Amino acid sequence: MKGIILAGGTGTRLFPLTKIVNKHMLPVGKYPMIHYAVQKLRQAGITDILLVTSKQSAGLYADYFGGGTEWGVDISYKIQESAGGIAQALAQAETFVPPGEKLAVLLGDNLFADSLAGAARRFAAQPEGAMVMLKPVDDPRRYGVPVLEGGRIARIVEKPADPPTNYCVTGIYFYDSAVFDIIRTQRPSERGELEITDVNNAYAAAGTLTHELLTGWWTDAGTFDSLREATEYALRGELE
Ligand code: G1P
Repeated sequence: MKGIILAGGTGTRLFPLTKIVNKHMLPVGKYPMIHYAVQKLRQAGITDILLVTSKQSAGLYADYFGGGTEWGVDISYKIQESAGGIAQALAQAETFVPPGEKLAVLLGDNLFADSLAGAARRFAAQPEGAMVMLKPVDDPRRYGVPVLEGGRIARIVEKPADPPTNYCVTGIYFYDSAVFDIIRTQRPSERGELEITDVNNAYAAAGTLTHELLTGWWTDAGTFDSLREATEYALRGELE
């Protein structure tokens, strides 16, 4: 299985820090934020990793990881030229994933305690489709939220005003290589982005979207509050 880490975006909610450095390079405890995504993939036995970043700070990623040898992984880099959404960033990985091979996709600002080893193993055994990781949250309106019917995700609503459940679809996704064909059929949303939720909904409609729950702490470290909280967890060694 290949690993893809999406680390682009403009990080507007962390302005003005993100004026000088890409969000995923901000410190979380002893390490830059991006470190934890690489760790999580490596611990799940996923060592062939593509890092998709924006131009801003691209050199810093190479300074930090190099080719990945020190971390026991093989890291390649791809620049997302324009910020067109998560699914557009993921489309950049198409040439990295041989047809028929599966991929684990992490949003670089998602920080969490769970190991992904079990989920990766179970998805490897899933004949086709996709799998997402869910987590109950206090304010589901900030996220993609699943509509659950009979224990399955019927569909996902992106940032709903009236959330159907209190689960968030986290930025931890597993796909088969059909994901690239699905992205090609997508159109930009009202916010002008190719939405990962639309991609996941294509799998849900086909009946091939499964899910699991994270049991440990999770955040997307996109705000000053969540960044501070993540730092506290990181310093206690709970994110490694
Ligand atoms: C994105 C996804 C959303 C998901 C979230 C997790 O939101 O669109 O479905 O719940 O990541 O971090 P965004 O960060 O683009 O607001």
